[in-house]
Parts: sequence; C-alpha cells; structure tokens
Amino acid sequence: MKAAVNRSYGPPDVVTFEDMPKPVPGDDEVLVRVHAAVVGVVDGLARRGAPLYARVHFGFRRPRFPVLGCDFAGQVEAAGPAVTRFAAGDQVFGTIAPRFGAHAEYVCLPEQAAVAPKPANLSYPEAAALADATALCFLRDKANLRRGQTILINGASGAVGTAAVQLARHFGASVTAVCSGANAGLVRKLGAGDVIDYTEADFTRAGQAYDVIFDVAGKTSFSRCRPALSRTGTYLTTAPSPAIFLQMPWTARFGARKAAVAFTGLRAASEKRRDLLYLRDLAEASALAPVVGACYPLPRIADAYRHVDAGHKRGNVVVTMNGHT
Ligand SMILES: NC(=O)c1ccc[n+]([C@@H]2O[C@H](COP(=O)([O-])OP(=O)(O)OC[C@H]3O[C@@H](n4cnc5c(N)ncnc54)[C@H](OP(=O)(O)O)[C@@H]3O)[C@@H](O)[C@H]2O)c1
Repeated sequence: MKAAVNRSYGPPDVVTFEDMPKPVPGDDEVLVRVHAAVVGVVDGLARRGAPLYARVHFGFRRPRFPVLGCDFAGQVEAAGPAVTRFAAGDQVFGTIAPRFGAHAEYVCLPEQAAVAPKPANLSYPEAAALADATALCFLRDKANLRRGQTILINGASGAVGTAAVQLARHFGASVTAVCSGANAGLVRKLGAGDVIDYTEADFTRAGQAYDVIFDVAGKTSFSRCRPALSRTGTYLTTAPSPAIFLQMPWTARFGARKAAVAFTGLRAASEKRRDLLYLRDLAEASALAPVVGACYPLPRIADAYRHVDAGHKRGNVVVTMNGHT
C-alpha cells in the first residue's frame, strides 16, 4: 500500500510517498481502506518532533510513528473472525489518537478501538473531520456549557474552533468568536453572534465578561483572561504550560473562577467511541457540519502540511485517497 512516511524530524519535505506492506487484520481487528484523513496541527508537531518534551511520545531521536494521521474515514475491507460489530463494506470513521497511522491507504484497528459507523449524510473528508471530539470534550465535559451562558472562543475559525462554535450553539450558549477578519463570515454562518478580529482588538480589555473562555488557539492565559471572565467563569485552554498546570488544581480548590487544560487524545477508546456516536447523531440531525477548508490528494501531503503549519487554516485540512473528495 502507499503511505506518507517520515523517517526523520523536519519540514514538510521530509515526508515521502512510499510503498509499505499492507496490514493484515488479527482475529479481533478490522482492516479499513482509508478514503480521507485529517492533517492536523498535532501531525505537524509530530512531524517536527516539537516541542522537545513531546518526543517522550513521538520518539526521542527519530519518529516512533513513521506514518502520521489520527482522524480518518473509510470502508471496512476485511474483519477478523472474532469481530462482531463490523463487516466488509461498512463505511466507518474514527481516530487512532494518541497513536498515528492514518496517512496511508489502509489502517488496521482492534474492533474495540475508537471507530464507528460513518454519518450517512457526510462525505469521507467531512466524516474524517468529524472524528476529532476535542471541542465536545472541552465544552460538554470540562465547561459543562449550558443554555443561556456566554462563551468566547479564541481561535474560532480553525478545526477545533469551527466545531466549538457549532457545539456551543447546540448547547444553547451565546457565542463570541475571535479570529481574523477574513474568517468573520464563516464563524457567523456557523452560529457566532459576535465576532472579534484579534488583529484589531484585544478581547481581554474590551470590558465584556463571559461565563466560559475557550482558548483554542492557546494564544492567551488565565491571568490575562481573568478580567474577561464572569465571577464564576471558566478559562479553558488546549495548550499545556507550567502556569496552567499550577492554576488548574489551585482554582479547583480556591477561588470562584476556574482554569483548566485537557488532552482529549488520551481518553479511553470506549469514551471516544461514545463521542463518535454522539457526533454522528448531531451530524445526521444537521446540528453539526464539519468544515473542510482544503483537500489534497495523499501524494501532495507536503502541501497539506505547509497549509497546516501556517496556522490559519479554515476548519480542517484533509488528504484523500482513491479519488474521494
Ligand atoms: N489539548 C488537546 O487535547 C488538543 C486537541 C486538539 C488540538 N489541540 C491544539 O489546539 C490548537 C488549535 O488546533 P486547530 O486545529 O483548531 O488549529 P487551526 O485550525 O490552525 O486554527 C487556529 C485558529 O487560531 C486562530 N489564530 C491564529 N493566530 C491567532 C491569534 N494570535 N489570536 C487568536 N487566534 C488566532 C486562527 O484564526 P485565523 O486563521 O482567522 O487567523 C484559527 O481560528 C492547536 O494548538 C492544537 O495543537 C489540542
């Protein structure tokens, strides 16, 4: 099978397009023919081996995962004899995170992995983009976002942000989206009531207070956001830092305002499967429409990485196989 392979850390050009052995499913595994896979920020970090401490997972001297890619959609080609939930021909979507391997024509996964039937109304690229439950975990599980609350989403036009805007609306919150002016129309269409262009205004000094600030872009901090939080407000960030690791346990015990970080890829496969089904139901009810800003055929994955590395993608960037767009 063809796969995008990186045997050393570096820029997009380190990724080569190679022949690899096609995986063979074990007794309790499914072999999925991948039709689309997300090229995400985390893939870019793993390709570069950055930050350095993350090499505990990515591999110290050279990549532990020569084929990257977590979130995928495709079709089951074969199933081991002990598999009961899937059969050849089933259309599926899922995630391999925190491991990798989806930037290839095939992946092999245990039946109990985070894989679920694909939403009938989505294309393969859209279904691959739906497989990341990061926004759901932050808004539902960390913030317990409820009807009538106000939320500001910093970094609203990217992969996590576009899902967060729609989910926040689904939970009944009023959404203020922060992104560049070029993406204001997109986030308004997804449900944001207000939009702040971060190149023109600093939301932390605008005199508004929110019940939840979701710092998707990881460009600010709890200390800076404190004046923009309501008296019992919650600051959530996707970005680990020494400060947030101290603030999270401290604010959990003392003070009314809370601060938290989460690592959604580390959750158990059973939780991720439950979330895939939840997201699938929302997509099929037209309450959530994953945004795919760009599709590249797998051999052009270096261009996909350049797009992602620039830090301004609209929604998701996806590589496609077998002509699926
Ligand atoms: N902790 C976890 O479990 C977890 C899971 C998944 C992802 N992540 C992290 O989440 C982050 C976001 O991922 P993503 O895929 O959504 O990224 P992305 O698609 O690249 O989106 C980046 C967003 O940030 C905005 N932005 C860029 N510079 C900004 C600034 N100075 N101030 C405010 N907003 C700015 C962009 O807006 P414009 O394009 O309009 O400029 C865009 O909306 C990444 O760092 C990723 O590593 C963490």
